[in-house]
Amino acid sequence: MGLLLLLASTLLCSCIQSGIVASQDRSFTISSVTLTIEPRNEVPRNTNVTLRCQAKVLTKDNFPLTRKYIIYKEDRAVHTETTESSDDILYRLPEARVSNNGKYRCKLTIEGKNMSSQPIKLEVTGVSKPIFHLNKNNLTEGDRVTATCSAPGESGVFGFYFYDDSVELTDVQTRSNSAQSMLHFSTLGLHRLHCFYTVDNMPLAVKSEESNKVTVTVRELSIRPVLEISPENNVYEGDPLIISCRVEPSEHIFGNIEVYLSQDGNSRWLSMGKMDTEYSMTATSPLLTFECMMTLENLKKSERKNVTVIELFSTPILTMSPAEVFQKEPLTLTCKSEIVASEKLKRADLSYHLSSNESFVSSGSGVFHVTALEKDYTCIAQARGIRKASKTLTVHPKVAVSLPNISNQSKPILGQLFYIVCRSDVGSLPITYILYNHSTKLDTRVIRLPNQTALFPVVISSAKEQGRYKCEAQNGGRRIQSEELVINAIVPLSSPTLTTVPDLSDISEGGHLNLICAVNGSPPVTFKWFREGDLQPLSTNTSTNPFKDYEIPVVSNQHSGSYYCEAYNQADNKVESKSIYINVRMAPWKKAMIWGIVFLVILLVLIASCVLLYRSKRVRVNRSAVSVWSERKPEADNEEDHSTVSNEPDVEYTEVVHPRSAEAARAPLRIGTDTVYSELQNSTHGPPGGHDYVSSISDRAHPLASLIRF
Ligand SMILES: *[C@@H]1O[C@H](CO)[C@@H](O)[C@H](O)[C@H]1NC(C)=O
Ligand SMILES: *[C@@H]1O[C@H](CO)[C@@H](O)[C@H](O)[C@H]1NC(C)=O
Ligand SMILES: *[C@@H]1O[C@H](CO)[C@@H](O)[C@H](O)[C@H]1NC(C)=O
Ligand SMILES: *[C@@H]1O[C@H](CO)[C@@H](O)[C@H](O)[C@H]1NC(C)=O
Ligand SMILES: *[C@@H]1O[C@H](CO)[C@@H](O)[C@H](O)[C@H]1NC(C)=O
Ligand SMILES: *[C@@H]1O[C@H](CO)[C@@H](O)[C@H](O)[C@H]1NC(C)=O
Ligand SMILES: *[C@@H]1O[C@H](CO)[C@@H](O)[C@H](O)[C@H]1NC(C)=O
Ligand SMILES: *[C@@H]1O[C@H](CO)[C@@H](O)[C@H](O)[C@H]1NC(C)=O
Ligand SMILES: *[C@@H]1O[C@H](CO)[C@@H](O)[C@H](O)[C@H]1NC(C)=O
Ligand SMILES: *[C@@H]1O[C@H](CO)[C@@H](O)[C@H](O)[C@H]1NC(C)=O
Repeated sequence: MGLLLLLASTLLCSCIQSGIVASQDRSFTISSVTLTIEPRNEVPRNTNVTLRCQAKVLTKDNFPLTRKYIIYKEDRAVHTETTESSDDILYRLPEARVSNNGKYRCKLTIEGKNMSSQPIKLEVTGVSKPIFHLNKNNLTEGDRVTATCSAPGESGVFGFYFYDDSVELTDVQTRSNSAQSMLHFSTLGLHRLHCFYTVDNMPLAVKSEESNKVTVTVRELSIRPVLEISPENNVYEGDPLIISCRVEPSEHIFGNIEVYLSQDGNSRWLSMGKMDTEYSMTATSPLLTFECMMTLENLKKSERKNVTVIELFSTPILTMSPAEVFQKEPLTLTCKSEIVASEKLKRADLSYHLSSNESFVSSGSGVFHVTALEKDYTCIAQARGIRKASKTLTVHPKVAVSLPNISNQSKPILGQLFYIVCRSDVGSLPITYILYNHSTKLDTRVIRLPNQTALFPVVISSAKEQGRYKCEAQNGGRRIQSEELVINAIVPLSSPTLTTVPDLSDISEGGHLNLICAVNGSPPVTFKWFREGDLQPLSTNTSTNPFKDYEIPVVSNQHSGSYYCEAYNQADNKVESKSIYINVRMAPWKKAMIWGIVFLVILLVLIASCVLLYRSKRVRVNRSAVSVWSERKPEADNEEDHSTVSNEPDVEYTEVVHPRSAEAARAPLRIGTDTVYSELQNSTHGPPGGHDYVSSISDRAHPLASLIRF
């Protein structure tokens, strides 16, 4: 037993093992899926069409697989089939219709793997001719008839269209291949009816040909509405009117008849009743149109009539005179009905009422005197209970111009265009402005827009002219003149000159100096004084005269230099003078001191010469006298020797005093006595400031420089 069990378990084991091995071999691949249409892709209707789905599956071993096929039409599954066989799948479309048209696709799924065929398009051509049918052909007005339209042998989604000749009556959408519709006819006589249909065939619909034609006759019923108006002619406004609406003949009454009386331009009926109705009213001009309508089930019949109503008096017209008026001025308003039916009404029987801004003003025979104000007027003419209102007349009284303001908009520069502006703050447009100069009319401007100003271009061409301008504003008879605007032209500056006080040749240290800048042109003038080379002016000042001075109260040698001035006025043209050179001379006391020193030196030299002369005589006479001189410094000996040689020291000074070139002045000194020259040079070293002054002067190579060195 145990042995048997062991054997069985071994067998089972090997079986499972072999099973595992087998499942490992169940590998496969879908090689291709193809969908074809038989007999062709494009077929006439009624053909038996077959869609064939063919799949090629490759396996390692030959073993059965569960294949699931789905056939799609435009992504909608239309056929599903599961099989273990490798045969082709067939999807039949017996007697194909247009509704079978579309794109088809076949999809095969095996154990999670799937594959789709290429889509393929089936095209079935042709649809059947529709059949049209009516349930009765002989009709009377108001009757309804059932029409049937069918598409024999077709399937799909349909649209059926019913026609009376070329006029579409109705349409029905359905999945059935036949449709019914209730038709009724609004006109009598013959009607030729037909239908056609369409079958949905995405994306377009296929349209059938037209059906057979069916003729119906619609006969009139003897019954009809009758409208009567009394009176019918010579109706005047205000006359009473009686309108009646009834059905004839009244003998053959069958069914539920109703009558409605209505008036054009009025959506509510005037009256209604069974078989007949009546209405009373007062006639109003100019035309009344009535309608009498009867209804009997689906039948509706009507009769219309016009009544011409003669006007008793025409709509009044409101006019004003004068046509233009200023505020609070008297104004006449006239209200009048042009036409009065004299055979019915006397003019005197008409009364007029005037109202303004919806409040009553007065009544009368049509002429009203009022005060002009901004108001809306209407008048009403009244007679025999009839009232007629005129159109609204809006009175816009004018506002008189206010005193105009005159001003210049730009600077009145001589010879240049500038503008004079005139403006009245209030006043109805248009306003005319006239510009006068000394009572002479110059120009005119008409202002038509609010906030526009009258702009007059003016040129003053001579500096002597004085413009006296006035502006006159007027709007409809009223004139008012502005104040006078006096204008003197601004003369641009010219001929600037810079002069000095004292005179240029007379400026010396310690004195005062005035730099006077003068121009031609209109004051006020702004002057600026410049020292050449400086960016900043020395001074800026404004004067109401065409000249101005700048004062240097105490002149020093530092003030020497080139100066010029600038000036400008309202004309904004800047002018610049030529520059002048100012040479500051030495102060008189310095000159005097130099001359004093010179004189002293000459005196010393003279004394020295005298002493030498005397001593030389003494040497010759008595050599012992030398002891007096031997106390002097050894250097002094040289001086002695030289001085003995020098014969004419006075001559040298005389020459130097005369102004001449530095070279010329120095030459004789070198020739004469170097000693004297060097001594004088040393003496000028005395005041340190003085030396700087001299050298700065000599830098300028001025002819006086050499003189001042001494
Ligand atoms: C289509 O198939 C039907 C039977 O399913 C057959 O009666 C008919 O004759 C076939 N039509 C054509 C055109 O072969
Ligand atoms: C078909 O196979 C594709 C991959 O090849 C997969 O993405 C898809 O989900 C499958 N469809 C079905 C319905 O199994
Ligand atoms: C319709 O009326 C005409 C004449 O009135 C008559 O000849 C015809 O027979 C009628 N047809 C039917 C269907 O009643
Ligand atoms: C009534 O008057 C209107 C407008 O003048 C006109 O169109 C219409 O034909 C008239 N109707 C009748 C019934 O005279
Ligand atoms: C009358 O009405 C008009 C506009 O409707 C208005 O401009 C005007 O000021 C009113 N006049 C008076 C006096 O109320
Ligand atoms: C007139 O106009 C000038 C310039 O617009 C203005 O400065 C002046 O105030 C005005 N005068 C009056 C009385 O309105
Ligand atoms: C008007 O003219 C005067 C000189 O008459 C001038 O000072 C003023 O600047 C001018 N006004 C304007 C707005 O240019
Ligand atoms: C006219 O000017 C005034 C003030 O400058 C302004 O308030 C007003 O809107 C202007 N009107 C028009 C029509 O430009
Ligand atoms: C204004 O009148 C004066 C005096 O008659 C005249 O000299 C001047 O040319 C006039 N100016 C203009 C711009 O008309
Ligand atoms: C301008 O001139 C006036 C009067 O001559 C003088 O008092 C004033 O100091 C000057 N101004 C300047 C900035 O020089």
